[in-house]
Amino acid sequence: MNIKKWGAIIAAGVLASSLALFGCSSNDQGSTSSTSGTDSGYTLINDGKLTVAASLDFPPFENLNGDKPEGFEVDLMGLLAEELGVESNYLPSTKFDTIVPLIQTGGKADVGVSGITINDERLEQVDFTDPICDVNQSITVLKDAGVTDVAQLEGKKVGGQTGTTGYEWAAENIKDVEMVGFDEMTAVFAALQSGQIDAIAVDWPVANYYVKTAYTDCEIIKEIPTGEQYAIAVSKENPELTKALNKAIKAVRENGKYDELVATWLQ
Ligand code: ARG
Repeated sequence: MNIKKWGAIIAAGVLASSLALFGCSSNDQGSTSSTSGTDSGYTLINDGKLTVAASLDFPPFENLNGDKPEGFEVDLMGLLAEELGVESNYLPSTKFDTIVPLIQTGGKADVGVSGITINDERLEQVDFTDPICDVNQSITVLKDAGVTDVAQLEGKKVGGQTGTTGYEWAAENIKDVEMVGFDEMTAVFAALQSGQIDAIAVDWPVANYYVKTAYTDCEIIKEIPTGEQYAIAVSKENPELTKALNKAIKAVRENGKYDELVATWLQ
């Protein structure tokens, strides 16, 4: 090996160790730190933890059981964190339409996980992992309302969670619709029950869960094949984390654990 090559190797070593030092010291100041796995290349807000921002109102994907987050994505994040050798840590529930901007800004959470559909607008703000779930939209009404077709909703009030793809679908596809936006999914269902709105536009598995459990006086009249895909939102400044998560997603799909979660939560 010639001297030039040795020089390059030594220089790389010095650079790597000073980067590692920098990572540790910045952690002391409470900002982004390097991960414990020094060669992973990604950063985590808190060492040893994958900090998750979520709107915990979207069963069966994420919901609060008392004060404990639970659901398909909550369990999935637990598995993915395990693959990364860290623990998943959910922040208190965050308003859905603030999650993507929060990940884009950085500093509060490593990932946004909330049944977030990949779309062009969001792709400008954050990176997404490989898809973790496929879903369609749906329209839900009160059982005794006599509404059997979306066309009957012309000029009516349709509710949805603000900033969601369901809200957008209804606004764009129902003629003369009057859209009513809510912060929380439960508030949307409460509004349907109280007659404040005539229908709800939300991701089908979520409508299905709500009408089967709490809101049995409501029914889904239509599944709308929007062909959406959920993924985990990651800062564009942390591409190695996206890569590590994709590897972890692949691993849990291959070892059968992903299928176990589907069987537990989505069937
Ligand atoms: N999939 C829809 C979207 O990305 C709705 C997600 C709402 N999520 C939630 N946790 N409330 O816009």
